[in-house]
Amino acid sequence: MNPTAGSATSSYLDRYDREPDETKLKLVRQFMTDNPLGFFRELRANKPVLVTPRCTLVALYDDVIEMLNMPNVFTVALYAPKMANGYLMMHDDDPLHYREKSIMQGLLNRDDLPQVREMVREIAARILDNAGGRIDAVGEYCRMVPATIVRDYFGLIGMHRKDLMEWSYWAQVDTFYNQPFDVVEPEERERIEKSHAESGAKLGKYIAALILTKKLTSSLDFLLSPTRKMWWALFRWLTKKRDGRLHDDIVTRMMRTKFPAEVDFDLQRVGVNAGGLLIGTIETTAQATVQTIQYLLQHPELLARARDAVALDDPAEFDGIVWEALRFVPISPYMFRQTACEYTLAKGTNRETTIPAKTNVLALTQSAMFDPKAFEEPETFKAGRNWYHYFTFGYGAHECLGKYVGMVMIPEIVRQIVRKRDLQAKNGIIYDGHMPKSYELTWRS
Ligand code: HEM
Repeated sequence: MNPTAGSATSSYLDRYDREPDETKLKLVRQFMTDNPLGFFRELRANKPVLVTPRCTLVALYDDVIEMLNMPNVFTVALYAPKMANGYLMMHDDDPLHYREKSIMQGLLNRDDLPQVREMVREIAARILDNAGGRIDAVGEYCRMVPATIVRDYFGLIGMHRKDLMEWSYWAQVDTFYNQPFDVVEPEERERIEKSHAESGAKLGKYIAALILTKKLTSSLDFLLSPTRKMWWALFRWLTKKRDGRLHDDIVTRMMRTKFPAEVDFDLQRVGVNAGGLLIGTIETTAQATVQTIQYLLQHPELLARARDAVALDDPAEFDGIVWEALRFVPISPYMFRQTACEYTLAKGTNRETTIPAKTNVLALTQSAMFDPKAFEEPETFKAGRNWYHYFTFGYGAHECLGKYVGMVMIPEIVRQIVRKRDLQAKNGIIYDGHMPKSYELTWRS
C-alpha cells in the first residue's frame, strides 16, 4: 500500500481499456491501492465518471456532493444485510433515520467535548507512560484509547476492552470491506461473515445484559425518597461544576431520558443504538490515528511542525495538521452507494452519465479532496484548510454521528504520542486486508 505517492508513469485509463472485462475490477482496485492519488488525478482529468462492469466510480468534488445529497437515490442498501435490528445507518431519508440520529446527536451533547478531550488525554498519556518506550501502536494504543472511551464515556461497562475491539473489528470489515466491489477470495468472505455473525451474537447478548443491569441500578435510585433524590441531584450538579468531569455516561443518559410511546424510542432502540456507538468508534479511530502517526513519521518536516504545535495552548494548529494528513491517508478513499432508480449524474456537462437502477457507485471522496474546485493547490500539504470541504467524517444525511467525538479523540491520540522524544517506527504499518494489524513504535522514555 502506498497511499502517499502521486505520480503516474503510464496512463491508467489505457491499461484499463486494454484489460478484459472479467479482470477490470481487480485492476482498478490495484490502482486504488498502489497509487490512489495518481489514478484519481487521471480520472478527474479524463474520465470523471468511470463505468466499470461491477461498479461506477465518481471522481469530482461536485459529483460526489450531488450523490451524497440524495440519500434516497444513492442509497445505503448495501449496508442492510450487514446490520441487525434496523440500525439507523442502514436507513436512508426516512422517519427512523431522522428520529434516531437526531435523538443520538442530542444525547452526545457537544458541551461534553472539553471533558472528553481531557479523558482522551489522560487515557492516552497513561498507556504511553506504562509502555516503557515501546508499543504496538495498533492494538495497544490506537485501538485501546477509543475502546476505553467506549467504556468510560459511552458507558459500555463490564466487558474486556479486547472483546469490544473484536466486535467493532468484524462489523467494520464485513460492512465496509466485504462488498461486491471488494476483491476478496470466497473462503475469506465466508470467514469474515462467520466471524461477524459470531461476534454480533455476543454483542447482542452483552447489550441485553448491560441494559438490564443499568435498568436495575436506576430502579434502586427510584426507591430513594423524592427529598433524597433532590439532594443527590443537587450534589451531583455542584460536584460537576467544581471538578469539570462528567458524572454520567451516554448509555446511562439514554436510559434516564424518557420519551412518550409516540416517539418510538424504547429500551430496545436504546440497546441497538448503544451497540452502534461501539461499532462506529473503535476501528475507525484506530485506523485514522495510526495512519496519521505513520504519515507524520514519514514526513519529518511535518512531524517537527506538529511537535511545535503540541506546545501551544490552543490545539487548533495541531488539529489542522491532523485533518490535512487524513486527506492524504483517509480510512477509505471512497463511500459506496447503490442507486434505487435510474439517475443522470452531472446533467448538462460533458461528463453527464445515466446510471441505471441497482448500480453500485463509489463516491471517491479522497479524489474529491484533491479536486482544485474545493482544494487550492491540492497536492500541497496545507494545514488549516476550510474544514467544511473535508470528507473525513462523510457528508450529507449519513455524515458521521460520532464526528464531534472523533474530532477531539483523533488529534489528541496523535498528539500524545508525537510529543514523545525520538519517536521511531520499526517498520511500516502491517495490514490484514484493509485493516491495520500492527505498527511497532519506540521512543526515549
Ligand atoms: C467516535 C465515534 C464514532 C461513532 C459513534 C460513529 C458512528 C457513525 C454512525 C452511526 C454513522 C452513520 C450515520 C448515518 O448513517 O446517518 C457514521 C458514519 C460515518 N462515520 Fe463515524 N463514527 C465514529 C467515528 C468515526 C471516525 C473516527 C471516522 C473517520 C475518521 C468516521 C467516519 C465516518 C464516515 C466516513 C461515515 C459516513 C459513512 C457513509 O456515508 O456511508 N467515524 N459514523
